[in-house]
Amino acid sequence: MIQETIVTTQNSAGKTHLAPMGIHVKNNEFIILPFRPSTTLDNLLDTGTAVINYTDDVRIFAGCLTGHREWPLSPAEKISGVYLQAALAHCEVEITRIEEDPIRPKLFCKTVHQVQHSPFTGFNRAQFSVLEAAILLSRVNHLPIEKIESELNYLSIGFEKTAGPREQEAWQWVTNAIQEQLHKADKS
Ligand SMILES: Cc1cc2nc3c(=O)[nH]c(=O)nc-3n(C[C@H](O)[C@H](O)[C@H](O)COP(=O)(O)O)c2cc1C
Repeated sequence: MIQETIVTTQNSAGKTHLAPMGIHVKNNEFIILPFRPSTTLDNLLDTGTAVINYTDDVRIFAGCLTGHREWPLSPAEKISGVYLQAALAHCEVEITRIEEDPIRPKLFCKTVHQVQHSPFTGFNRAQFSVLEAAILLSRVNHLPIEKIESELNYLSIGFEKTAGPREQEAWQWVTNAIQEQLHKADKS
């Protein structure tokens, strides 16, 4: 199974980095798969540790891809690192082994410590729509315009029916950024 999370890492100077990552979960192991080049990868190789944050605030997923990166953080408990205050739960992990790959290495991790902060309050279709739109944004230069537009039209159905203020803000950030990228591509 793949869980959509926010991974927080730090470089050896203690500078924090946030990135949405789809974490593969297999038995009791997590596998983080960053595409090169990646700050998350560099930091993980530097320190050997990361925090996997489970959050339903989709503004953080959208924000990482649209320049809204200032989210409140707290110090991790068992490793040197930070977790998102908006996390419903977080997991502090350590690399156990690496499968090298020129495109997308696999970083196998084990849990050092996990904390539940708030209860899970159910699925929301607008949150799914924002995540999918954020993934479209991250691939906007590799996909045909027609596919992007038809997927956004479909995603807008669940979004319109179920979004709250956080989802609305995140959707605006992502769809504006997609339009900007498409506009730029049109001009070049
Ligand atoms: C829901 C979601 C899941 C993502 N999963 C991954 C992933 O597994 N690996 C990856 O390299 N990028 C993934 N991305 C894209 C990265 O978050 C984004 O490109 C980021 O800049 C990664 O590079 P960084 O480590 O340099 O920040 C995902 C984006 C979204 C919105």
